[in-house]
Amino acid sequence: MTLLVTGGAGFIGSNFVLDWLAGSDEPVVTLDALTYAGNRQNLASLDGDARHVFVHGDICDRDLIDRLLSAHRPRALVHFAAESHVDRSIHGPGAFMQTNVTGTFTLLEAARGYWGSLEGEEKAAFRFHHVSTDEVYGSLGPTDPPFTETHAYEPNSPYSASKAASDHLVRAWHHTYGLPVVTTNCSNNYGPFHFPEKLIPLIIVNALAGKPLPVYGDGQQVRDWLYVKDHCSAIREVLARGRLGETYNIGGWNEKPNIDIVKTVCALLDEFQPDAAGPYERLITYVKDRPGHDRRYAIDARKIERELGWRPAETFDTGIRKTVRWYLDNQPWVSNVLSGGYRDWVTQQYGAGQGT
Ligand code: NAD
Ligand code: TYD
Repeated sequence: MTLLVTGGAGFIGSNFVLDWLAGSDEPVVTLDALTYAGNRQNLASLDGDARHVFVHGDICDRDLIDRLLSAHRPRALVHFAAESHVDRSIHGPGAFMQTNVTGTFTLLEAARGYWGSLEGEEKAAFRFHHVSTDEVYGSLGPTDPPFTETHAYEPNSPYSASKAASDHLVRAWHHTYGLPVVTTNCSNNYGPFHFPEKLIPLIIVNALAGKPLPVYGDGQQVRDWLYVKDHCSAIREVLARGRLGETYNIGGWNEKPNIDIVKTVCALLDEFQPDAAGPYERLITYVKDRPGHDRRYAIDARKIERELGWRPAETFDTGIRKTVRWYLDNQPWVSNVLSGGYRDWVTQQYGAGQGT
């Protein structure tokens, strides 16, 4: 038994692979293209671990996927690989269409061929788990009920549109071909290995560097925040027991305006590493809003609780403390990311030509 995990060198994927192998001896094959968001160092603790194979490659490469499927015969494919940053999608949507739409299509076709070749129990057990976002549902008004799984798809950014497209492909491959899929739509994650282009890690690293803390627009946009390890535990539950063809919303029951998030991070930094120049809040700087900025996301996570008994283990208070602590305790990781040195990590660590 093996899992094939795409995007496992990214933020959520690396947490998933590490947590999986901390709790199980079932081997993992990680496939990752190591884009700017992929960091081989995230999985460095697995070096030399026979249960883990890292493959440097692109989910759009059908030959490679076919070869991996027939060589490793995974019992599930867990698909995290994506372009994931809304602001980047506004500046350059092409990569989002390529990886999120064409890449998912390529994986679905390869999985369909592989699954079709399986028989008996192996065939019945196979799963294609598609990891998606709450952003596919669009934006809520201040008093609207949170997103349920039956909420209409109303994506507003090139990122969310590309993820919505991929969700539709996954649904169709189940409906038309019977491919055994499950899809999860999760809210904003935070935690270790989060790339500092996203709000929470950006605020931490900028504050520590004495740089402005950019808050878009009025800072009153609301997101639901979930500690990444809770997202990983939810995925494990859905993979194990989720009903085929179903989608499950995953959230933290934790809606907060951005400005509150920024102030909470500042207060924790004041506690853990006070700055002689004064409270970190002094660095908050309101900047031009993101075009088309979604005002509010909120998740109704009752279905996964009702069917699978899953609830987040962390509150925001406990999760954000762990997260700020992790960034303070992992300054070499942060410096490597900020300097771009992480992109040379493979060569430094494993020598030239040792990408896999
Ligand atoms: P990330 O940007 O940190 O990581 C993405 C990973 O995918 C990187 O390692 C990157 O190298 C890899 N990748 C990109 N293009 C690839 C390609 N063509 N072939 C192979 N690998 C490729 O993203 P993340 O935040 O870890 O998100 C993972 C998944 O979870 C995404 O599908 C995202 O849409 C979804 N998601 C993210 C959040 C969040 O808050 N971050 C919330 C809900 C859902
Ligand atoms: P982000 O972490 O990019 O996630 P997403 O856009 O997928 O929700 O942003 C979270 C929220 O924080 C979003 O409303 C945009 C806002 N934001 C800022 O105010 N300043 C920033 O520098 C960034 C990166 C985001």
